[in-house]
Amino acid sequence: MDPIDTLFSAARAVQGRAHAPYSRFRVGSAVLDEAGAVHAGCNVENAAYPVGTCAEAGAIAAMVAAGGRRIGAILVLGDGAALVTPCGACRQRIREFAAPDTPIHVAGPEGLRRTFTLDELLPASFGPDNLA
Ligand code: THU
Repeated sequence: MDPIDTLFSAARAVQGRAHAPYSRFRVGSAVLDEAGAVHAGCNVENAAYPVGTCAEAGAIAAMVAAGGRRIGAILVLGDGAALVTPCGACRQRIREFAAPDTPIHVAGPEGLRRTFTLDELLPASFGPDNLA
């Protein structure tokens, strides 16, 4: 199966489990790690609004917990007409485990809408190498 289709299916499988009673905006995300394994996450909101977490954060946490250390590709799936591009904080979360040319796929219910590279969404970024 095409890796994008695999990521889309994984994100769709968890999007419906999102805990989004406040925004009512359910998001699913899936990452492909360096071993070819796929890890998914959904947004988990909280009555104390700022404590809520994005789908990408959940997917990345699942990857790390499973032993993955590199993001080969990531997909974000949300409803609505607008592109569900990762928020600023999630761009930085992706940055920790990805390369400038790592694809960030943005999808809607009908399928893939657009693909960006990490460098397009987070240019001149700060990462682990900056601490060396
Ligand atoms: N959200 C994500 O999970 N990922 C994104 O890329 C954009 C926004 C969530 C956060 C919040 O629970 C809801 O969508 C509305 O912002």
